[in-house]
Amino acid sequence: MKLSRFGEKFTSRSGILSLMDDLGNALAEGDKIMMGGGNPAHIPEVDAIYQQELKRIVDDQALFTRLVGTYDPPQGEKEFVRELAAYLNRHFNWNLTERNIALTNGSQSAFFMLFNMFGGEYADGSVRRIQLPMAPEYIGYADAGLSHDFFSAAKPEIELLPHNQFKYHVDFHGFQIHDTTGAICVSRPTNPTGNVITDKELEKLRAQAYKHDIPLLLDNAYGLPFPNLIFTEATPVWDENIILNMSLSKLGLPATRTGITVAREEVIAAMSGINAITCLAPGTLGGLMTLELIRDDRIDSLCNNQIKPFYQQKAEAAVTYFEKIMGDTPYRVHKPEGAMFLWLWFEGLPISSQELYERLKQRGVVVVSGHHFFPGIDDSQWAHQHECLRVTYSRDQKTVEQGLDIIAQEVKAAFSAS
Ligand SMILES: Cc1ncc(COP(=O)(O)O)c(C=O)c1O
Repeated sequence: MKLSRFGEKFTSRSGILSLMDDLGNALAEGDKIMMGGGNPAHIPEVDAIYQQELKRIVDDQALFTRLVGTYDPPQGEKEFVRELAAYLNRHFNWNLTERNIALTNGSQSAFFMLFNMFGGEYADGSVRRIQLPMAPEYIGYADAGLSHDFFSAAKPEIELLPHNQFKYHVDFHGFQIHDTTGAICVSRPTNPTGNVITDKELEKLRAQAYKHDIPLLLDNAYGLPFPNLIFTEATPVWDENIILNMSLSKLGLPATRTGITVAREEVIAAMSGINAITCLAPGTLGGLMTLELIRDDRIDSLCNNQIKPFYQQKAEAAVTYFEKIMGDTPYRVHKPEGAMFLWLWFEGLPISSQELYERLKQRGVVVVSGHHFFPGIDDSQWAHQHECLRVTYSRDQKTVEQGLDIIAQEVKAAFSAS
């Protein structure tokens, strides 16, 4: 089959595609300890609330028709957009109107739109890239540009902490914005590391974006106010130069495919236009299912009393257990400040993280090799990229411990064979 450039780029073996395939195949083989995926956990009390909301909609003829029988406008479900603007104003005084919010089919598609709105070729022939203040960053960005060589990223500063922990910081000496930068993008909390860039770092990024008249894209998929998978101090921010991307996925609703973008009016109008062209309208399900929870602020107690404690407790248990079983073997874990992963760093590991991943898979444990998470880094010699693993800890404690036991055994074996 002959394909256009677009066809070739988007059908080649992208990192995310082979990763999803590999994880899918491992899952299909069964009998594996899955610590690789980004699926949210299913918390029974939370699921019960969603079921209740869905039932209420299905039992009401008018709501049911709204749910499955009508196209929403390209900007998304009107009442949800209005209530969400009111909710964000109530909590943060952002002074939003309904013209500041658009829905998309998952925030992944919002990023696809935004990256290609601000990165790539401009009308004057210049080419701009998306600047990531640091990598590791979310693998889902890596292939989302319409052209090649789309991202640039700086290496982070690494702060070593007690108890074998560490934390990445933006290295503001290495982080530079050029004429060729179209936008800055950062996830907060970060997938895969669980890092939460500090308020100070965010302020600096904000100032840089403002100074260079480019937008700052904030990926809030795990952030505040929902799902609030943040275990440290962090202030939510928005202004006309920030494009804030939220999602219902990590609330436990990934299959509703609901992304939410909060931005200045012209960005929202542009995204609505792209929605109209690419899919006519975003889906209605997520908006309708969470409408009442947002209207009466129940979403806050859901996040603060159920979802966040669930993940925080699991993160702490996994870190404590790993510390116990690793003994003197060299390892570090990124301070778990948010999201739903542990980011493990084995400095000086004699094998690559991909090789470790393969060995673990042989032993029935599926994780993700860290090298996938360095989009935009052009230093192939940087050993750190091949010394890390991303591990999901949201399964039951016994399974997580079994998985961590096998990781510890394989890492110890690799070190002692060298
Ligand atoms: C950091 C980050 N951003 C965005 C997404 C996309 O999520 P969704 O398209 O489900 O909203 C994910 C999904 O895992 C993520 O981890």
